Amino acid sequence: MNTVPLFQALPDNECDEFACELSEGLRMKPRQVSPKFFYDAAGSVLFDRICELPEYYPTRTEIGILTTHAADIAASIGPNAEIVEFGAGSSRKVRLLLDALHRPQRFVPIDISGEHLHASADVLREAYPALEIRPIVADFTRPVALPPRMPGHGARVGFFPGSSIGNFDPHEARRFLRQVANQLRGGGLLIGTDLIKEPAILHAAYNDAAGVTAAFNRNLLVRANRELGADFEVDDFAHYAFYNAPLQRIEMHLVSHRSQEVHIGDETFHFSEGDSIHTENSYKFTVEGFHAMAVEAGFRPAATWCDGQRWFGLHWLEAPA
Ligand code: AVI
Repeated sequence: MNTVPLFQALPDNECDEFACELSEGLRMKPRQVSPKFFYDAAGSVLFDRICELPEYYPTRTEIGILTTHAADIAASIGPNAEIVEFGAGSSRKVRLLLDALHRPQRFVPIDISGEHLHASADVLREAYPALEIRPIVADFTRPVALPPRMPGHGARVGFFPGSSIGNFDPHEARRFLRQVANQLRGGGLLIGTDLIKEPAILHAAYNDAAGVTAAFNRNLLVRANRELGADFEVDDFAHYAFYNAPLQRIEMHLVSHRSQEVHIGDETFHFSEGDSIHTENSYKFTVEGFHAMAVEAGFRPAATWCDGQRWFGLHWLEAPA
C-alpha cells in the first residue's frame, strides 16, 4: 500500500538544509532534529511498512472510518468538489474519498517531492480520466497559490489524513490550520487525528515487535552517514519511544548507549551514555480539544466520524466564506 509520509525526501539542491538543521539541532540542549528528515527513499519504505504493522492501528482505523462513513462524508462535502491534498499521500485514502464523492471536478495534490507527486498523479489520471489532476510541487506548510476556481466547481476541500497534524508542534499546527482556513474559504477541511487512548496501546504502536519503527528512527543516522559523510555508529543509538501523558504526545528519541564522539564535516559532537536526540513528537488529541484548536484557526467543526473504539477521528471542518 502506498501510504502517507508527511514529509518527503528533499530535492538534491536542498541537501544542505539537512546538514544545517542536523548540526544546529545537535548543538541544542536537548538535542533535536525535525521528523521531516525521516523520509528519504528508505525512510518512506519503512513508513509504508509501519502502516501495515499489527500494532500501528492509525492507518487501518482511518481507512475503516473513510469506508464506513463514505456516504455521510460525501454528503457533507457536496457535489463537484475540488480536493486539495496536503502531502502526496496514500492513494488508497484519496481514492476512497474520490469514489465516494459526487462528480469531483479537480484534484490538487501538493508535495515537496516532485518525483513521488507526479508518479502518483499519473496513476490517478489513468484511474479517473474525467478528473482534472493538478499536482503542485511545493512545501504545503507554507502558503501555496492554488489554481483559480472554475465556474461550476463546488466547494474547495482540503484533505489531510493520517494524523500528520500531530507531528507539528501545537503552535505550528495552529499556524497551519489558520493558513488552510484562509485558502479554503467557502469550503472545508477533512482531517484525521489520532485520539488519546490507553497509553499501552500508544506505546505498542511506536514500539513494534518487528523493530520497524526502531529502524525508521535510526534511518535518520543512516541517512546522515550516507548524505553528509557523518560517522554515527548506528547500532550504538537505541530507539526510545514513550507516551508523555502531560504533553499528550508520543516522543521518539535516539539514545546513545555509550560515551562517544560523532563527526559531521569538521564538527565533533560528544554524546555521554544516555544522551538523547529527540527525533519526533506525535501529538494525540481529544475531539473537543481538536475542535477548540480548529475554531481558534477560523474553522467551524461540522462533523467528526470515529471508529467504534474512538481511537481515531476524521473531522469535517467548514471554512466560512
Ligand atoms: C506520519 N505520522 C503521522 C506518523 C505518526 O504516527 O506520528 C509517523 C510515525 N512515526 C513513528 N511511527 C509513525
